[in-house]
Order: sequence, then C-alpha cells, then structure tokens
Amino acid sequence: MKFFLDTANIAEIEEGVSWGCVDGITTNPTLISRELVGKTDFKTLVKKILDLVDGPVSLEVTSVKAEGMIEEGKKLKKLGDNVVVKIPTTVEGLKALKVLKSLKIETNATLVFSVNQALMVAKAGATYSSPFVGRLDDVSEDGMSLIEDIREVYDNFGIETKIIVASIRHPVHVRDAALIGADIATMPFEVFKKLINHPKTDEGLKRFLDDWQKIDKSKLMF
Ligand code: G3P
Repeated sequence: MKFFLDTANIAEIEEGVSWGCVDGITTNPTLISRELVGKTDFKTLVKKILDLVDGPVSLEVTSVKAEGMIEEGKKLKKLGDNVVVKIPTTVEGLKALKVLKSLKIETNATLVFSVNQALMVAKAGATYSSPFVGRLDDVSEDGMSLIEDIREVYDNFGIETKIIVASIRHPVHVRDAALIGADIATMPFEVFKKLINHPKTDEGLKRFLDDWQKIDKSKLMF
C-alpha cells in the first residue's frame, strides 16, 4: 500500500520524504489555506511541494461548475507533470472527470461517502477515488466497512480506479486499510509519525545500549 501525506506543510513534507516512505501528497483547500495566510502565495507553495515529492500531488479545484473545474484543472496540471486534479463528487464533478480523462489529466474524486459514489466516479474516469473514513466514523458510521465494500466492488468488475483512504485519524485506520487491500492511505503527518513508534522498540533499544555501556571497550576488535 502506498503512503501519501495529507498536508501542504513544507516542513512536514521534507521530513516525511527524508524517511523514504512518502509516495505522494494530497491537499485540500483547508490544508492549502492554512499554509498561505500571511506566509506565501499559492504558486510558490505548490512549486515547492512538487519539487520535493517524486509522486502524485493532488490539488483541489474550488469551482462548483464543470466548466470552471475543467479550466482550473488544466491550469493546475501546467504546474507540474505529477499534479493530480482533485474534483468533488457531484454531478458537475462527474462531467469534469469525463473531460479531464479525455485530456489525459489524472484526477482524484474527493468526498466519497458511498459505494455508489465510488462506482460513479470510476465510470466517469477518475484515476483515484477518495472515501473519507474519519468523517464517517464521526457520524457513527463505520468508515472502514465502506473501504471493504468499495474494494470488493472495484475487484468484482476489474475497475482500475485506485482507492485512496482519506480522512485517516489514527494508525489503526492505516493498518485496516492495508489489510483490506486499499491502494493508498493518505494521512496527516501526526498519524504518519505514529506508525513507526512502539514502546517495546524504545525499551529494547535502551536495554541494548545500557548493556553495551557495561563492557570494557578496549576488548573490542574494531
Ligand atoms: O484531504 C481530505 C481528508 O483527508 C480530510 O481529512 O481529517 O479533515 O476529515 P479530515
């Protein structure tokens, strides 16, 4: 399973990339706006992200009409070859997905909350579909069971649209997404950091190093 970071923060992206475990980036208007206010401009920020990441970078349109989404999509794609245009899962979004596919522009259908939506965006030509697990959990639904269902339906029909598990809130979401066979998990940096931690690793390493301190170093062969 691929790991994407769900962030537009340069420091987080630099750190994640240095760990060798980041396959791509997803952003949304909320994440981008957080980095822009009083700091930099959109193009400068996006260029930095595109330079840092050797993989797909999703940038979301803000138009609500298909024509606007398509125009924005074309402009976003000009920023870099690895740009993926993020399109909302609406009727207008379906129209935009179809046209962008014909233009060979990769797309990520966002705000997917049902199997039927996942089927529709795939039919319209989405490269990726992004079901939001955390926001379903927030309203007492089971986000991960949606991922299981979409995986099954896509496999039933040989649908090639890739599933990006989005709105991930904790490491168990990541583990479950991998067990189900989702293609990608996109997560905040805070969740990404937690994936490598285990108290028994820290405890074990401390014991090894403490024991190493006890020996006479002059007896070492190197
Ligand atoms: O990028 C979309 C999604 O991952 C947002 O997550 O935590 O705001 O529901 P969240």
